[in-house]
Amino acid sequence: MSVTAVLKNCGVLLESPYWDVPSQTLYFVDGLGHTVHRFNPANGSHEQVNVGEEVGTIIKTKSGKIMLASKCRFAYLDWSTGALTTVAKVDKDLPNNRFNDGKCDAKGRFWAGTIGPESSPAVVLPKQGSLFCLHPDKSVTKHAEDIDISNGMAWSLDNKIMYYIDSLTRMIEAFDFNLETGEISNRRPAVKLTNEEGLPDGMCIDTEGMLWLGCYSSSRVNRYNPITGEKLQTVMFPVTNITSCCFGGPNLDELYVTSSREGISDEIVKNEQPLAASIFKVTGLGVTGFASNEFDD
Ligand code: BGC
Ligand code: CA
Repeated sequence: MSVTAVLKNCGVLLESPYWDVPSQTLYFVDGLGHTVHRFNPANGSHEQVNVGEEVGTIIKTKSGKIMLASKCRFAYLDWSTGALTTVAKVDKDLPNNRFNDGKCDAKGRFWAGTIGPESSPAVVLPKQGSLFCLHPDKSVTKHAEDIDISNGMAWSLDNKIMYYIDSLTRMIEAFDFNLETGEISNRRPAVKLTNEEGLPDGMCIDTEGMLWLGCYSSSRVNRYNPITGEKLQTVMFPVTNITSCCFGGPNLDELYVTSSREGISDEIVKNEQPLAASIFKVTGLGVTGFASNEFDD
């Protein structure tokens, strides 16, 4: 197994890695830098566009467009100008909220959750966030509220369970998931993190049904069995704040990992964590992931 920094120091809060199979490129966002990035590992090209507001998630749509969960809206992004076209607004009464992590389910719905104002990393005004779902007809439904820091999500291989993270619970939770209707129910703990493991942030699932979790503040990505709650593997990184991961590459067997330098001083970055806010690629894990689901527009 090997860990390589493929893009070094390219922002503040790198998040939402998304492997785009058609273009074989990695998209990700810099939430606090207000930028969306595209990296082509085959030729090393790295482009970015400023979208003018805090951005949580980037996904592609079936019609080939780019969609964001950004500030308090779902919006299309025009890559050539950075212009956003609002599709739907959320949290209209909570103007200081922002969208954080999100993902599409197997029926092309776009799920994403919000977070309240954060005074320093992981210190938020409590219970301001909610979990939303944007449906193909562009209607929005709310599925959970009183969330502190809405974060990663993933679905079991049979699509009967949705895994979800509110970071400050220090758990990965499970819901029964109805793929046909998009309803979730029966919220319960699936994986409990120890203090040493830090805060659960973004995650993805592999083809064996195991979860890969970016552990914020503990320099690691852990692999868990969500049925037993057991930790199976740890991959360490030379930075503290790992935010998320996704599988990519021609065979979907490389793990791309995002990190953050939010709240870390220039001094510490320079002397102790020169790779903070980099993109890492892990190869040789011996497992594969899935192509990302797209929004059904
Ligand atoms: C959020 C950060 C937060 C971190 C730790 C990230 O997903 O975007 O603002 O500090 O999770 O919980
Ligand atoms: Ca995250």
